[in-house]
Amino acid sequence: MTTHQTIYTPIKPLSAPLTGTLKVPGDKSISHRSVLFSAMAEGTSHLDGVLDSQDVRSSMSVVQALGAQVQLDVQPDGSLAGTVTGWGNEGPRQPDAPLYCGNSGTTVRLLMGVLAPWSIQAQLTGDESLSRRPMARIFTPLQSMGAAFSPEGRSTLPLCEQGGNLHAIEYQMPVASAQLKSAVLLAGVFASGTTRVTEPSCSRNHTELMLPSFGVQVEHGPGWAQVHGGQSMHACDVSVPADPSSAAFMCCAAAITPGSSLRLTQVSLNPARIGFINVLARMGAQIRVEPSGALGAEPYGDIVVQYSPQLTGTTVAESEIASLVDEIPILALVASVCSGATVFEDVSELRVKETDRAQAIIDGLALMGVEATCIGNALHIQGRKSLQVAPGTRFESGADHRLAMTWALAGMCASVEVVVGDFDSVAISYPGFMHDVATLQAAV
Ligand code: S3P
Repeated sequence: MTTHQTIYTPIKPLSAPLTGTLKVPGDKSISHRSVLFSAMAEGTSHLDGVLDSQDVRSSMSVVQALGAQVQLDVQPDGSLAGTVTGWGNEGPRQPDAPLYCGNSGTTVRLLMGVLAPWSIQAQLTGDESLSRRPMARIFTPLQSMGAAFSPEGRSTLPLCEQGGNLHAIEYQMPVASAQLKSAVLLAGVFASGTTRVTEPSCSRNHTELMLPSFGVQVEHGPGWAQVHGGQSMHACDVSVPADPSSAAFMCCAAAITPGSSLRLTQVSLNPARIGFINVLARMGAQIRVEPSGALGAEPYGDIVVQYSPQLTGTTVAESEIASLVDEIPILALVASVCSGATVFEDVSELRVKETDRAQAIIDGLALMGVEATCIGNALHIQGRKSLQVAPGTRFESGADHRLAMTWALAGMCASVEVVVGDFDSVAISYPGFMHDVATLQAAV
């Protein structure tokens, strides 16, 4: 086994406030689904605005190995557009090598549901981080529908999946997870009977919103979704809006950087994704949304945000967590410049992301002299009104893309040079992050 050598990247302070207009890259969750669902469908789907990042490329490469034809090319704006011709009614072909899912939880977890109804056997593998993440939450309901996973007793990758004839289940999810919900629903499309899932709070609903365009009837409401089995999927066209999780980095940076004023365009305004905007507004940030319309069933529009000098800590309720789960690291940075405390009521899911993000937030904020602690499942951050980072501070990202961007912004917004370990992990979700930050500074 090779040992990973951390590479430290120096990050220069901002040279100017963040101003102007920017369209961040395509939404990662919607991009994954557009690729996976097109691969499952009969016929050729046309996709545009697809995020070109390592995670989405993991989805593209696994569906190719399963027989889909993927012709997505890089466009002048850096997005991917083109066609995917699915395996449709024939089903995926027996892969001749392990399906490597890289760092991508969404790829492997949705794929488990995609493969479950077909009588093929697939080895599922991933990188070091993905191989530590829990998979039993996904294969437990799929097993009860009729798929088999081996070796027995193993709950992490590598795993071998053997699909088969599935029957529907009613499943009460133990966690609010869109990846789990999607895996069960995708398997349910080809099972006999009606598969129904309920969740403890509302996770993102992109699967429920997109499946009808592929000809699949889905019923859903807050906290539940159901799909009738025995359906088939047909090709369709998908345009992917910009990613609110990427936009969140720019919004938070602008809110804490004097002189900043930004408009982020054509961002997904799906309510299940923009909890961070509500939290920033509660903290006193000058932020608003301007809805423009919908791409398919996904609402989108602009986010307008300005430097907001007096921010106050807030409590983020357990029921809000799923709507901002990926934004907690950058919101934690904003919490550190608030007056008073911010509490995230339940960060237990953060412990099983690309890294243990709850601990990583506590450790990173400690380097800045900010007190943060977990009491039970709640993360408490004691704000100290201003951002104070010592020059040369060495932050660790643990090769977690969202931590890499958070700690880079800590240095940039504090006007000091810092170093960030494994900064190149930003390529997982936002390869052009530094380029976009530079563009917004140049707009002055
Ligand atoms: C995702 C769902 C979330 C999120 C992840 C992407 C998705 O994970 O953290 O980045 O595309 O379904 P969980 O569903 O496990 O909460």
